[in-house]
Amino acid sequence: MKVPAFQSERLLSLWQNHVEYDLTETGVEPLYLRELVTRAELDEIYESVQLRYIQTDGTPALKEAVCGLYTGMRPENLLLTNGSAEANFIAMWGLVEPGDEVIALLPNYLQVPGIARAFGADVKSFYLRPGATGWEPDLDTLRTLVTKRTRVIYLCNPNNPTGSVLDFRAMQAIVEAAASVGAWLLADEVYLGAELSGSPSPSFWGSYERALIVSGLSKAYTLPGLRVGWLAGPPEVIAAAWGRHDYTTITRNAISERLALIALQPEKRSQILRRNREIAGRNLALLEAAVRKHPDLFSFIPPKIGGVAFVGYNLPINSTKLVTRLLEERSILIVPGDAFGLDGYVRIGYGSKRLPEALGQIVELLAGLQTKGVHA
Ligand SMILES: Cc1ncc(COP(=O)(O)O)c(C=O)c1O
Repeated sequence: MKVPAFQSERLLSLWQNHVEYDLTETGVEPLYLRELVTRAELDEIYESVQLRYIQTDGTPALKEAVCGLYTGMRPENLLLTNGSAEANFIAMWGLVEPGDEVIALLPNYLQVPGIARAFGADVKSFYLRPGATGWEPDLDTLRTLVTKRTRVIYLCNPNNPTGSVLDFRAMQAIVEAAASVGAWLLADEVYLGAELSGSPSPSFWGSYERALIVSGLSKAYTLPGLRVGWLAGPPEVIAAAWGRHDYTTITRNAISERLALIALQPEKRSQILRRNREIAGRNLALLEAAVRKHPDLFSFIPPKIGGVAFVGYNLPINSTKLVTRLLEERSILIVPGDAFGLDGYVRIGYGSKRLPEALGQIVELLAGLQTKGVHA
């Protein structure tokens, strides 16, 4: 099996913990444990958690809390996983055979397209393009791409890296395209809840009998270190996915499961989402002011969610090369558009505390390249 390099994650794995300014976090600055739990709650965990194999598809209490986030979801619709990355993997492992076609909405986090290729599928793409209302999916291309061999249509909504959210009409058109050939719809919704407006965007859950939802606590809830995610779908699909999960990680971490339950208590949940919106709102204003000062250098469609912004630059340099220069010359890590399937852009994680310092340097380097030429 040939597994293509997962470019964005490789870059993070190599550099994220070694650079001065890491602007790759796609959620807002993750929570410290002390921000999530009180001493009393921690004491209770200390006294009561046994470090055993917990219920492998999800403890009933956590399953119930996750079901409460959706309309009409039941425990048998749900498999809890180690992060949404594992949920994506387990879903694709069960769906795709060599020769199948997978259609992916780009730009995107390229885990699912990479897995699809590794399993022998033919991956085609349709794009989000800058349009009158922001980033708009090219639905005409999607309609021409679906065939009887289309096994999965994959998208991430709200979208990483653009921070855009599909409108209802686009969601419906995508469901119709999938239904026209009986394809599965795999919707990665790990950013749902991070909307800057404070009103969550609609889920694909319940939109189609072949919709599979992936989500978790890493992004909107800013708890990536817990490694808690989930896959939701029809009971028979989830039962089969649980069987595959026996081969991957068996179960999750007993402490994380308890912390996740605390994070999803309604009051705590609103508090976390509010904190993240406040940080994101403040930092987005800084980012926007910096790029708007250079309209001939940057193009920018403001994100609708906290954490990620996809900024276009008007320079004759490939995004991976540009990011490498920032890394080598300024010890700043951002992610090239290349790693999401769209060159000419960079993704800036704007939720970091260190955004103001790093932003000044990013603008300085790019403005320098603009005046002196990219080889300067
Ligand atoms: C769209 C998307 N899905 C899944 C993941 C993996 O997240 P985790 O496994 O931490 O939930 C990421 C991480 O960046 C992502 O952007």
